[in-house]
Amino acid sequence: RTPLWLDCDTGHDDAYALLLSAHDPRIELLGVSTVHGNAALDQTTFNTRAVLEALGRRDVAVYSGAAKPLVRDAVHAADIHGESGLGGVTLLPPPVAPAATDVDHLAAMHRALAATAPDTAWLVSTGTLTNAALLFQRFPDLAGHIKGLSIMGGAVGGGFTDAPMGKVKGEREGERFGNWTAYAEFNIYCDPEAARFIFAQPRLRAKTTLIPLDLSHQVLGTRAVHKTPRDPTDNAPRDPSALRALFAQTMSFFAGTYADVFSITAGPPLHDPLAVAAAVYAELFSDSDGERFRVDVVTDGVHSPVPSEVGQLGRTRVAVLAPGEGGCRIPRRVDVDAFWRLTEDALQRADAV
Ligand code: BDR
Ligand code: CA
Repeated sequence: RTPLWLDCDTGHDDAYALLLSAHDPRIELLGVSTVHGNAALDQTTFNTRAVLEALGRRDVAVYSGAAKPLVRDAVHAADIHGESGLGGVTLLPPPVAPAATDVDHLAAMHRALAATAPDTAWLVSTGTLTNAALLFQRFPDLAGHIKGLSIMGGAVGGGFTDAPMGKVKGEREGERFGNWTAYAEFNIYCDPEAARFIFAQPRLRAKTTLIPLDLSHQVLGTRAVHKTPRDPTDNAPRDPSALRALFAQTMSFFAGTYADVFSITAGPPLHDPLAVAAAVYAELFSDSDGERFRVDVVTDGVHSPVPSEVGQLGRTRVAVLAPGEGGCRIPRRVDVDAFWRLTEDALQRADAV
């Protein structure tokens, strides 16, 4: 099994990343760290503990990480995930296992990852990149030890794929490829300096897989994939388990905000679990001729909810590198059906706990 550390800011799609990390048969979940992002750190930490409790994995250690970006003030996504980060999700069990709040989370991440065999472990980041940047700043040799870093973040645009991005009122078709501003994706926007640091590290770059919006918008949580499960013996609809009801509620709230904010009505893009899947099921993701990319992050500008004031802050600019130059992998396509099967399998395993 692949040793994996998940660094997340638990909102609705991070919950699915936790589901896969906790119950996929190919993954050995080493630990989970939390970061500011969808909501404030104490809230994302609470949500992470509660989801792991629901998943029957209170044995997994949760470390509370960075409360704010490297140099800026924190930004949260209440209009997408609710004030709590898991808005509309009323079925969460109260978490029993405490989070490690007074320990050095970077030391814990390093200890767990460094204890794995060389070239086997993955760090998966589904929130802002503050924890990841601080980890590799303090322990640069870790970049040589791990097998990979998988990040949900960024937006390429420019016809990279034809996935619809959705738009907010007043924008014209084709003008938007970010989801926080017209140019920037939320995770990268929240801490652009951290992201810029990560993509600039020569030893990390070639080990990094980036899942941008262009890819995650191909995987929509449509009604069809979340219909009531059927009993394989008599084909009759059966009552959803408490866990399925919890995930149905999670998807349903997320669908509502994507319909309201982005006019995407087919279902919400399931960004974060794709970064987990890309680490351990790389074969489900396809590139164009093995292309690899240099990624730079725009860090000029101020944080503001008004896109015209922020300019291109947090934009990921990507350029194709020549073969052998060691750039990031940015898949263009994913086998959507195979991805949903992984999610369904993980739900079945979690239900059986
Ligand atoms: C990313 O931002 C967050 O709101 C989601 O959890 C996901 O990680 C998508 O842009
Ligand atoms: Ca997230």
